[in-house]
Formats: sequence, C-alpha cells, structure tokens
Amino acid sequence: MLLPFLLLSFLRAATAQVTVYDQAGQVTLGATGTATSAVVLPTANAYNITVLTPPPVPDPAPPTSFTLELQSEATAVSGLSIPIPGTFWGFSVEMSVITQLFGKNSSFVQVPLLNLWSNIRERAGAVHVRIGGNTQEFAYYVNNLTDGHAISKEQVDSNNPTQTPAVIYTMDLFYLLSNISALVNAHWYVGVPFNDTSDFRFQIVEYSEAILGDYLLGVQVGNEPDLYSAHQHRNSSYSPQNYANEFGELVDAMNAISGQIPVRNNLIAPSVSGTWTPEDVWNTGFITDYLDDLYALAVEKYPTDNCFPEYGIGAFHDPQTEFPDYLNHTAGVALCEPYLNSTAIAQSVGKPFLMFETNSASCGGFPGISNSFGAALWALDYGLQMAFSNFSGAMLHVGGQDVYYNPFTAPPTNQSNLYEWTIGAVYYSALVASEVFGSTNTSRIIDLNANGANIYTPSYAIYENGALARVALFNYITDASGANDYTATISINGGTVPSSVSVKYLTAESVSSINITWAGQTLGAMHEVDGRLSNALDVVTINCDTSANTCAIPVKAPQFALVFLKQEENIATVTYSTSTYTNTRYTVTVASSVLATSNGMSGADWELGSTSSGSNNAAQRTIPFEKIRWSFVFVGLLFLCIVS
Ligand SMILES: *[C@@H]1O[C@H](CO)[C@@H](O)[C@H](O)[C@H]1NC(C)=O
Ligand SMILES: *[C@@H]1O[C@H](CO)[C@@H](O)[C@H](O)[C@H]1NC(C)=O
Ligand SMILES: *[C@@H]1O[C@H](CO)[C@@H](O)[C@H](O)[C@H]1NC(C)=O
Ligand SMILES: *[C@@H]1O[C@H](CO)[C@@H](O)[C@H](O)[C@H]1NC(C)=O
Ligand SMILES: *[C@@H]1O[C@H](CO)[C@@H](O)[C@H](O)[C@H]1NC(C)=O
Ligand SMILES: *[C@@H]1O[C@H](CO)[C@@H](O)[C@H](O)[C@H]1NC(C)=O
Ligand SMILES: *[C@@H]1O[C@H](CO)[C@@H](O)[C@H](O)[C@H]1NC(C)=O
Ligand SMILES: *[C@@H]1O[C@H](CO)[C@@H](O)[C@H](O)[C@H]1NC(C)=O
Ligand SMILES: *[C@@H]1O[C@H](CO)[C@@H](O)[C@H](O)[C@H]1NC(C)=O
Ligand SMILES: *[C@@H]1O[C@H](CO)[C@@H](O)[C@H](O)[C@H]1NC(C)=O
Ligand SMILES: *[C@@H]1O[C@H](CO)[C@@H](O)[C@H](O)[C@H]1NC(C)=O
Ligand SMILES: *[C@@H]1O[C@H](CO)[C@@H](O)[C@H](O)[C@H]1NC(C)=O
Repeated sequence: MLLPFLLLSFLRAATAQVTVYDQAGQVTLGATGTATSAVVLPTANAYNITVLTPPPVPDPAPPTSFTLELQSEATAVSGLSIPIPGTFWGFSVEMSVITQLFGKNSSFVQVPLLNLWSNIRERAGAVHVRIGGNTQEFAYYVNNLTDGHAISKEQVDSNNPTQTPAVIYTMDLFYLLSNISALVNAHWYVGVPFNDTSDFRFQIVEYSEAILGDYLLGVQVGNEPDLYSAHQHRNSSYSPQNYANEFGELVDAMNAISGQIPVRNNLIAPSVSGTWTPEDVWNTGFITDYLDDLYALAVEKYPTDNCFPEYGIGAFHDPQTEFPDYLNHTAGVALCEPYLNSTAIAQSVGKPFLMFETNSASCGGFPGISNSFGAALWALDYGLQMAFSNFSGAMLHVGGQDVYYNPFTAPPTNQSNLYEWTIGAVYYSALVASEVFGSTNTSRIIDLNANGANIYTPSYAIYENGALARVALFNYITDASGANDYTATISINGGTVPSSVSVKYLTAESVSSINITWAGQTLGAMHEVDGRLSNALDVVTINCDTSANTCAIPVKAPQFALVFLKQEENIATVTYSTSTYTNTRYTVTVASSVLATSNGMSGADWELGSTSSGSNNAAQRTIPFEKIRWSFVFVGLLFLCIVS
C-alpha cells in the first residue's frame, strides 16, 4: 500500500545516518529516530571481496610510448565496423530476479535501477535489456499472484545445473516493464518459452506486443538450444536440424494466431552457446528458411565455465590462475573470432548480430575476477572488440545474490530496508561504452593494433558522422611505480589535432581493486549505491601541439582513457532521488505513474516524508545537492512506501 506524503520541501540532504562497513560483518544503524542495532551483512557471492594478486609486469614489458597516426575521415579508413549504437552494452536479466531488481509490480519500481539505467540512457539515448535466460523456458502466465507481485518463482528445474526456478508472471509484468520504459527509455528483448513445442505459451509475446509496443525489440526463441540435451530438456540426439524444425513449428503456431500476435519478423535465434557453432545452425538452411521471421541472429558465450564450485561439474579453475586470461587484448579477440563468419553473414542478409548473454564466466563468474577493475577493462575491451567485429549489441548477464559478476545487485528482499545496492565492475564497462559510441547511431570503430599490436595496450579509434571523434586507450598492466605508464601520441592525417582534447579516465589502483572511478566519479561502495554518480566530474584537458600535429595522452598502469577529439555536449542525467537503509520498517520505491510526470522539476531535491511511526527523519538521506554536478538535474519525486 502506497503512503504518499508529499513534503515538497527543498530541504537539503541530511547527513547519512547509517554507517555501513564494507567487510562482511556488522552494520551499525545509528539513525536519528531509529534504534541502533546490529545485523549481519549478506555474505552472498555478489558481495564477495576476494582480492587477487595482479599479474606481474610482463617480460618484455610493452613499449611506454607509441604513436597513433589516424585518418581524419572515415572514408580513408578500411576495416571500420558497421554503425554501432550507444546502447551496445545492455543487460540480460534473469527472469527470477526481476522482483528484486525492477520492483514488485508496476506500482513499485526500484529507484536505484532507474538511476543506473538513466545514466546509460543519457549517454546512449536508450538502454537495451533482455529479460530471460534459463528461467524463460518454463515460465508461464497466471491471472494474478498473491501480494500483488508481477512475478514469482515456482519449482526448481532440477535438470539444469544452474538450478534455475521456473517463474510465473502476471499481466502486470508488462506494465512494470512499460513503466520503466516510459522513465528511462528501456527497450526490451523477451523470450518465448520453448520447453514444450506442443504448447508455446505465447502470452509473453502477445502481451509484450500489446503493452510494450515499440519498446519491444524482439523475441528470443530458444535459450542455448545446444545445451537442451545436456540439461535433459530434449533427448540425447537433439540436433541443430531438430532445433530448426521446432523453430518452424513455432513460426507456424504464431502465424495461426496472428490476430493475437500481429508483429512478424521479430524473432531472435539461435542463441547457441558454443556446443554447437552458429554454422551448425546456418547449415540447416535456417537463415533463408526464416529470414522474414527474424529480427536478429544471436549467440551466447561465456569465456570460461566455472560451474565446478557450485555444481561439481566441469573442471576446477583457480581464479588466481585464470586472472591473467582476462587481462590482455587476446581475450576479447579470441571471443569474437569464432563469430566473424556469422557477423558477415548477418550483414549480408541485413540482420543485426547480437551477443545475447555473456559475462566473465558461466555459473556466476569468479571471486576476485568478476568484480575487479580487471573485469571492467576486460568487458570494455571485449565490448569494443565485438563492435569492431560487427556485432550490433551485447548483454551483460545479471543474476541473483549468488553470482560474482553482476553489473548491479539489489539487496535481498528481506534486507532491502537495510542496504542500498551494490555495483559491479562491469557496470562501468557498460557506462563507458555508452560514451564510446554516443547517441548518434553513426559511430564506427576500428581496432588500431597499435604499439606493435602489444596485447597489454590495445587501442581503438571511433569515427562518428564520418569523422574521427574519439580514441580509446587501454593499459592492462598493474605497476604503481609508474614505470609502465605509457604515452600514446595521436596525430591526424587529412586534418590537424585540435588545440586541446578532453580525456576521461576509468581508473583504479590495480586490476584487483574494486574501487573504480570514471572521470573521477563513482557509483559508490558496496551496499551504498543508489544509482547516481557521486564526486566531482573530472575531465582532464590535454593541450596538443598543433604545429607538430600531435596530442600526447598519458595512460597509467592500469587505466582506460577515452579521448574526445571533438567538443561533446554535456551529459544531463535524470536522477531519481532515493533513500533506503535509514529505517528498518520502510523500503523506498517510487510510484512510477507519478514519476513519469515529474521530470522537469529541475534544480532541487524533492523530499517526501512519512507520518508513520518514527519515519520523517527516515526519509532524508539523499545525496547532498552540492555533489550533483550535471548540467541539468531533474530529480524525481521521492515516495516512501510501506511494502511489507
Ligand atoms: C569469497 O569466495 C571464496 C570462494 O568461494 C570463498 O572461499 C571466500 O570465503 C568468500 N569470501 C567471503 C568474504 O565471502
Ligand atoms: C513446460 O513448462 C510448463 C510450465 O512450467 C510445464 O507445465 C510443462 O510441463 C513443461 N513441459 C515440458 C514438456 O517440460
Ligand atoms: C485471481 O485469480 C483467481 C484464481 O485464478 C480468480 O478467481 C480471481 O478472480 C483473480 N483476481 C483477479 C483480480 O484477477
Ligand atoms: C502492487 O502491490 C501492492 C501491494 O501488494 C498492491 O496493493 C497493488 O495493487 C499492486 N499493484 C498492481 C498493479 O498489481
Ligand atoms: C504504469 O502501470 C500502470 C498499471 O499498473 C498503468 O496503469 C500505467 O499506465 C503505467 N504507466 C506508464 C507510464 O506506463
Ligand atoms: C529426439 O527428439 C527429436 C525432436 O526433438 C525427434 O525428432 C527424435 O526422433 C528424437 N530421437 C529419439 C531417439 O527419440
Ligand atoms: C561461414 O558459414 C557458412 C554457413 O554456415 C559456411 O558455409 C562457410 O563455410 C563458413 N565460412 C567460414 C570461412 O567459416
Ligand atoms: C592473454 O589472454 C588469453 C585469452 O584469455 C590467454 O589465453 C593468454 O594466456 C593470455 N596471455 C598472457 C600472456 O597472459
Ligand atoms: C565489419 O563490417 C565492415 C563493413 O561490411 C567490414 O568492412 C569489416 O571488415 C567488418 N569487420 C570485421 C572484423 O569483420
Ligand atoms: C533473509 O532471508 C534469508 C533467507 O530466507 C535468511 O537466511 C536471512 O537470515 C534473512 N535476513 C534477515 C536480515 O532477515
Ligand atoms: C538511434 O536508433 C534508435 C533505434 O533505431 C532510434 O530510436 C533513435 O532515434 C536513433 N537515434 C538517432 C539520434 O538517430
Ligand atoms: C576501497 O573502498 C573501500 C570502501 O568502499 C575502502 O574501505 C577501501 O579503503 C578502498 N580501497 C582503496 C585501495 O582505496
């Protein structure tokens, strides 16, 4: 039940009333008006703080100065990618965690989620999100659920090593998605259940088309069908031809109810994960047979299988031993190489090619790797490499509390009034990628293979609207001494360098660190994330030598630098003011219908309180106004809601 009490005051933020200690252990609640108490912080994998040892400086170390001779105009460059949207890195959300991440229903949307996606939207123009995963196959629709939830879990599918629960959902799921779309321009991929070809349960398609309209991007048919046999969802002889036939059965079944499902050509397939190659599917004649039904071709791929610790299957991989494999350019290149034939085929038939689900390792990632700055560099380089390889988009998978790799994690439902969210390293990769490509849909990228193609110092150039716009520079080495910092000297053929360039750095002390900043800003420490960037924006201006036609860009070990060769527009971020862990009886969510109309009230934190027991003070932890540095900040209305 919603208890909206508008104070509509311009109160400045009160000081934070809660001290949250980072280590698994105790949290002290010292809020005014609330009792001091101690509760045990969650120790789930999403909060694991294993710190690995950074790999040593390689021998030989990469040269510490090199030049990038870049063409001014795209027409002078061969090998540029197709145009890449700023939405390139999106998120793949397991259906079973929708309640935690999105909100319990369309009336209660998670404010930190809106802020996190708003950050992407402001840079990319939109955010692309896939809901699905293993849970989509057994999902089914019901008229209503207890407690007004939009989604709920049922029994566990015990045949699947990830033990994913089947989810049940109501019509309100689509209003929840639609309300999120209205606020942060989220566009969606959904998955049609494919566990039973005699009953496709098309409700998710029907209601997505009806309610999401243009916010629906496409419908995935079959999630990792190459693993169906291993997961005992099909018999042991299940083949690419069987999958292609069943896809055809689905198309026929959809055509038979085209009154309910009017949109054709929005299907996504085959989402194979490496047990079959995409060619195994193409060789059945799949693309020509179903060209008119397809929106995009897709695959899913995790670089490493880490299912052993949780499920005892596959090989044991030691995180410290694996760490170097994420810390060089070969990682991304090797992940893309098997798909180059398919991205060319996709281009030739005019379809996007998508990485529908990925992250640092399957079955939840690795402690110490997946949430490290090294993973942020890895996912950023991998994303840029996929773009260079003519993928059109990729989705970072988000699971529950029990995985290491989440880009963002909501607290467990029964602790949502104690803690805020936790950011994962790869969220920064998505955020930065949205600035690498920007919002024009015209960015084309090329891997420069510079510095003798040294694998520790990859770099890319980005052409936008036909002209050189940005340069991306990586340094994978950790060396606090400074001896492996490098200087990349940019010069421009067919033009001259500007008198100065702006540089944004993605920085941490070492590849093992979980404390990451982007242009000086951070989403915050574990359990403290409300989705807004804090600290002063720090964009470094570097003067160029226009007579020599050079700009010398320093890059630390480790670091990522994004060099803006053209003046960029300021980024205005819409934020949704939030407050959580100040009162154990309340969880703050937001009435989306009100928020939708509240944008535009710029320039102040609107605060709302509650007249319920001991609660007025509880509403007043917000980010101090001074910390909000965007050119335009629209702060949404804050509602306090009793949820329980
Ligand atoms: C982190 O995960 C590792 C590997 O599962 C485990 O050994 C360690 O105890 C965990 N640490 C914490 C603080 O939970
Ligand atoms: C498919 O999933 C539905 C919903 O979970 C379930 O009722 C049905 O028995 C499943 N069918 C098969 C063949 O597994
Ligand atoms: C909820 O479901 C029950 C059983 O299916 C049904 O009797 C009831 O009318 C439903 N209520 C609403 C509001 O749809
Ligand atoms: C959302 O949940 C609340 C509380 O359970 C309920 O009162 C409300 O009707 C639900 N909203 C919808 C749209 O189902
Ligand atoms: C939000 O969801 C409700 C249904 O609960 C719907 O009535 C309303 O139109 C939605 N608002 C937007 C902006 O989509
Ligand atoms: C395995 O399943 C496929 C369809 O999925 C079917 O065509 C084939 O005959 C089955 N094979 C056996 C040995 O049952
Ligand atoms: C590309 O894929 C097509 C279709 O599967 C296949 O015929 C061809 O041999 C592949 N080419 C390469 C170079 O792998
Ligand atoms: C670089 O990464 C690749 C791919 O993960 C890995 O196979 C290789 O061993 C790494 N090279 C070094 C020198 O660590
Ligand atoms: C990407 O597509 C462009 C345009 O067709 C092509 O020139 C380029 O070689 C492709 N890149 C790769 C890595 O295949
Ligand atoms: C939250 O729920 C989990 C699982 O049901 C339980 O183990 C944990 O103790 C609960 N935590 C709190 C603070 O109630
Ligand atoms: C970029 O492409 C998206 C999707 O097609 C579209 O909605 C958006 O308006 C485009 N942006 C620009 C600036 O053209
Ligand atoms: C990382 O951040 C935590 C707080 O989240 C802080 O306690 C720790 O000292 C930081 N580490 C470094 C190396 O800055």
